[in-house]
Amino acid sequence: MPASQQRWTAVDSFINDKLVGPDPALDGALEAGAAAGLPPIAVSPSQGKLLHLLAEAIQAHTVLEIGTLAGYSTIWLARALGPGGRLITLEANASYAEVARANIARAGLQDIVELRLGAALDTLPKLVAENPDPFDLIFIDADKQSSPDYFTFALELSHPGSLIITDNVIRDGALVDPASDDPAVEGSRRLHAMLQAEQRVSATTIQTVGSKGYDGFTLALVTRPHAHDGAHDGR
Ligand SMILES: C[S@@+](CC[C@H](N)C(=O)[O-])C[C@H]1O[C@@H](n2cnc3c(N)ncnc32)[C@H](O)[C@@H]1O
Repeated sequence: MPASQQRWTAVDSFINDKLVGPDPALDGALEAGAAAGLPPIAVSPSQGKLLHLLAEAIQAHTVLEIGTLAGYSTIWLARALGPGGRLITLEANASYAEVARANIARAGLQDIVELRLGAALDTLPKLVAENPDPFDLIFIDADKQSSPDYFTFALELSHPGSLIITDNVIRDGALVDPASDDPAVEGSRRLHAMLQAEQRVSATTIQTVGSKGYDGFTLALVTRPHAHDGAHDGR
């Protein structure tokens, strides 16, 4: 492991020790995921807590998550919701979904969280067709080449004031490597091009280092209503 990665991991351990702490449901979710052979690609504990704090800060009532894995970020987000809160999480892999459902139940969140199994590009149009109340926070963390498509759905399912967070957008800096034609990197470039042109959000991307390496996330605040809201967006 390179020295820089060792240091980032050590600092993450320090942060976890001081500010996150042990948590049986969250730690158990990671352990159950590992025991079932799921890849170790959940958000880090400090990133999970950031999601939690952001949801609390905007007093989120409803959350949509795209990409569940073992339900680690799901638990962080669902715990931030006040009474009557709802979280819908979308997962394509049936065996991952089974692990996640058990983790969510162990965390006592089964009445708040609804896991929908299927490829998100199939389950999202169905969700839109249900015409749900807009979501206060949307976390995009599935197959990265589709992040721009998920962002388009997220915008449709949001309201002014919603936060849309997209994870893993820097990819070790490959975002700006012209030699990289990795579909995940191209997805991130396409997302940034969309955001540059999009008048309905104000966005930034933050680079991160830590136990998960060098990556980053995009935070977009919806500032203008979706065209379907019945209000003019001023353009
Ligand atoms: C990075 S992991 C999610 C991590 C999780 N959000 C966390 O931090 O605990 C990405 C997940 O997206 C799922 N996924 C991949 N392609 C998908 C698709 N087309 N539709 C829905 N889920 C998908 C994968 O099976 C995997 O569980």
